Amino acid sequence: MKQVLVLNGPNLGRLGAREPDVYGTQTFDDLAEACRMTGRTLDLHVEVRQTDDEAELIGWVHEAADARMPVVLNPAAFTHYSYALRDACAMVTGAGRQLVEVHLSNPAAREEFRHTSVVAGVADGTIAGFGLMSYQLALQAVAELIAVRQAAGEETVPG
Ligand code: DQA
Repeated sequence: MKQVLVLNGPNLGRLGAREPDVYGTQTFDDLAEACRMTGRTLDLHVEVRQTDDEAELIGWVHEAADARMPVVLNPAAFTHYSYALRDACAMVTGAGRQLVEVHLSNPAAREEFRHTSVVAGVADGTIAGFGLMSYQLALQAVAELIAVRQAAGEETVPG
């Protein structure tokens, strides 16, 4: 079974309590469970992590690049200014692995500073605005991208 890392940046551990009008009432544990359940339907082994620490998040992205593991990433506020995280993400897609950026809210419909993503340019794509469903759609995208690359002979069949 293919391993996928679902990585989450700062303040996402506070889901449920944090601005529920923007991010909904479901908790981070609910999000993690929804991701794992979606993974099971897609034959993906999903591991969900969250940190408020930029260095730790970058370390996890390095881990994914070294292990050639696909990533679903909600960089949270780092989205808008962390060139260091962006450069780490480039190592994942540069290694031919899938990296899908996700957001619960739709940053394009919010404050001006959220309109820029420094990560988007090195991701395969971005899914935003659908709450927990953003993650489920991103996992579907990862599964599809793996299948397409396998069919093209660019990736070996796992297991
Ligand atoms: C977010 C959007 C970011 O602008 C914000 O800083 C977050 C969450 C989202 O999932 O909608 O922390 O990434």
